[in-house]
Amino acid sequence: MDRIVIQGGRRLEGRVRVSGSKNASLPMMAACLLAEGPCRLENVPEVKDLRTMGEMLEVLGAKVSRRDGILTVDSGGFSDRAAPYELVRTMRASIYVLAPLLSRFGQARVALPGGCAIGLRPIDQHLKGLTALGARVQMEHGYIQAKAPRGLTGANIYLDVASVGATVNILLAAVLARGTTMLEHAACEPEIENLAGMLNAMGARITGAGTSQVKVEGVERLQPVAWRVVPDRIEAGTLALAVAVTGGEAVLEDFPLAHLTALERKLHDAGVGLASETGGVRVFREQKPLQPVDIVTLPYPGFPTDLQAQWMALMCLAAGRSVVTETIWENRFMHVAELKRMGADIQIEGNSALVRGGRPLSGAPVMASDLRASAALILAGLVAEGRTTVQRIYHLDRGYVHLEQKLATLGAAISRETA
Ligand code: EPZ
Repeated sequence: MDRIVIQGGRRLEGRVRVSGSKNASLPMMAACLLAEGPCRLENVPEVKDLRTMGEMLEVLGAKVSRRDGILTVDSGGFSDRAAPYELVRTMRASIYVLAPLLSRFGQARVALPGGCAIGLRPIDQHLKGLTALGARVQMEHGYIQAKAPRGLTGANIYLDVASVGATVNILLAAVLARGTTMLEHAACEPEIENLAGMLNAMGARITGAGTSQVKVEGVERLQPVAWRVVPDRIEAGTLALAVAVTGGEAVLEDFPLAHLTALERKLHDAGVGLASETGGVRVFREQKPLQPVDIVTLPYPGFPTDLQAQWMALMCLAAGRSVVTETIWENRFMHVAELKRMGADIQIEGNSALVRGGRPLSGAPVMASDLRASAALILAGLVAEGRTTVQRIYHLDRGYVHLEQKLATLGAAISRETA
């Protein structure tokens, strides 16, 4: 198993390009199944989760190929085979094939995803939405069995939680449903807005995506499209925080700062600047010591849960107390025990972590528990004294395009070792 080895203490400087968004590419790959013929997705990051999604589409009969960041999905052979547990359990976003199966074939059989390391991850809101659109949904032997023999019909749907995944599945189902769907309390993430842009380019009629109220007027069919995936705001945020922990200065290329407003404001309070300039975003330390700043994770445009662990690594360095509150996932503090092994002083109370920052971190062997926790440990390693090895980095490879290479480009002493 690979591991990442870091020698801490280098200040990061230079320029690095932000890859395309994993969490936008996943629903877009499923969206390709809605058109007959080959769709082209550009700026798709080379990460494990997208390979898993590709395997899922192939199991369902689609042809998937990739070259130079361009992914082609040809839905020509798409059929209503079951989406197997072996794939769904390795990647929960496979649930995105539910809606295309239902709307193209009037039936779907998709393994029910279980929980995962960060939480229980229910899908009740996905199913509530599809049921409102006319699907009959049953659970059988660990599979979701959904049927809509007479097709789907537009409906008014209110989500109890602004779920990203449920918003995706409902959009993918509503675009080919008869009549109009009004979705209230929808997720507002840029990935949803980008997905709606792609669907509209395929001929869908969606308005309001990116706000909490989305209207979809169903159409009869969608055409194949070529579409460019938005830059990955979570990778950009991770890189910004990496630069910040080392007190460095760097430019993140190809990234719109508007997608990271919450991080920008919180970093500003902490004494780190993010400024748009031609071709990217400059990250720099302002002329004051790093300040402790509280955060609460919330749905977009709130502070992203996917940057909570990395933010905590930064707060370990700010002299004083800060509180990190996680409201999205019930078990997303697994990095805390590992950060403590590196000398951090953090105490968990319910869904908050009290960080007493300012003590120097020391390099240690640590274990990654999920994707973003892996990134947080690497950030801590960049500034810790001595050597840190981060193990179980298959978590990291699910969602980052060679994070270690990008950090090395900025001057970090970091490498991957294959054990
Ligand atoms: C997406 O997960 C992301 N994954 C996650 O990123 C991210 O953490 C999450 O959104 C929140 O921003 C992808 O985009 C592939 P949700 P998703 O449905 O869609 C509750 C990463 O690190 N909920 O918005 O699964 C749920 O329990 C990953 O890249 C219900 O109650 O998240 C949670 O508390 C990890 N019922 C909240 O909503 C439902 O039916 C948000 O979940 C669905 C969700």
